[in-house]
Amino acid sequence: MSTTATDALRMAAEASLRAPSIFNTQPWRWHFGADFLELYADPDRQLPVVDPDRRLTTLSCGIALHHARTALAAEGHTDEVSRLPDPGRPDLLAHIRTTGRSTPRPADIRRYAATLTRHTNRRLFTNQRVPAEALDRLLDVAEGQGIHLYVLQHEDTTALVTAVSHAQDLQMANPAYRAELAHWTRQLQTGGDCVPADTVTAPVRHRVPVRNFGVEECGGLNPGTGFDQEARYAVLAGNTDEPASWLRAGEALSAVLLTAVDEGLAVSPINDVAEVPSARAHLSEMLGGIENPFLALQIGVAESVTGVPATPRRDPADATEFDR
Ligand SMILES: Cc1cc2nc3c(=O)[nH]c(=O)nc-3n(C[C@H](O)[C@H](O)[C@H](O)COP(=O)(O)O)c2cc1C
Repeated sequence: MSTTATDALRMAAEASLRAPSIFNTQPWRWHFGADFLELYADPDRQLPVVDPDRRLTTLSCGIALHHARTALAAEGHTDEVSRLPDPGRPDLLAHIRTTGRSTPRPADIRRYAATLTRHTNRRLFTNQRVPAEALDRLLDVAEGQGIHLYVLQHEDTTALVTAVSHAQDLQMANPAYRAELAHWTRQLQTGGDCVPADTVTAPVRHRVPVRNFGVEECGGLNPGTGFDQEARYAVLAGNTDEPASWLRAGEALSAVLLTAVDEGLAVSPINDVAEVPSARAHLSEMLGGIENPFLALQIGVAESVTGVPATPRRDPADATEFDR
């Protein structure tokens, strides 16, 4: 049975809650009308230390926007989106209006299904190679959103390790950063947000160190055997460094993540390197002087591991409000 526009919009907002976000802050709110949804950034969920200019908040909202539109497409609804439609209301990031019906494409249905199974892989990747054709598809879907995905050559990995380690050293030396991280790591399961300690892993086991969540005992994770030898590293970058590009980068990241699931790949952000200006400059140099790197990613074939708990999500009612 086909869904009404109102039901499809409700499903879209629910699907958006499965989107990944920086520190699992889920920094958005949805406003519902009969045939539209408005996406707002939630300034109360911004991270003042990690994200002072709101780049990562806006990017996370872009992921939610793409997840929502993926649900609409899979439910057979066409839509029209205005991004940042009102300069007087900068928190209003997007207005989505349903415009009619269409037959869902198989790719839309698979991507919608991927919103349910995707999660951030912080375990080691296997020794399976990432096929070049799969990487090309990830590049294409990012480009479809006007965002570039640059894949690093294997020989650049050492330079990436240096830049990431530099960023992590500076961040961990900052008490305000450590307090913000602790707040969003240890405030477990109370409000359906935060990064649970048992989903993180020890940074030293990896070829490129993952974020140090400051948790001594990392439970439930299989250390694996491959030391990420076949993982690929990539950077999402835009043409400008402003909210419109950050939102698009989030949409591109969502498209990359959901397509990766379809390709049998796992993609995880290693983003500390893009949060520290000097490390971000290294990242840019490493890629021949690209402008506006937004986010670094690792891409690989993940081991199938059981026992890692899912990261919690907020109650949809907490993130939505309705027209009367
Ligand atoms: C913009 C952004 C940056 C992120 N940076 C990191 C990171 O540096 N290290 C990390 O382990 N996870 C990072 N994540 C993953 C989030 O912590 C993760 O999406 C969130 O905890 C929800 O878990 P899930 O992706 O498994 O659903 C990032 C996610 C986003 C959207």
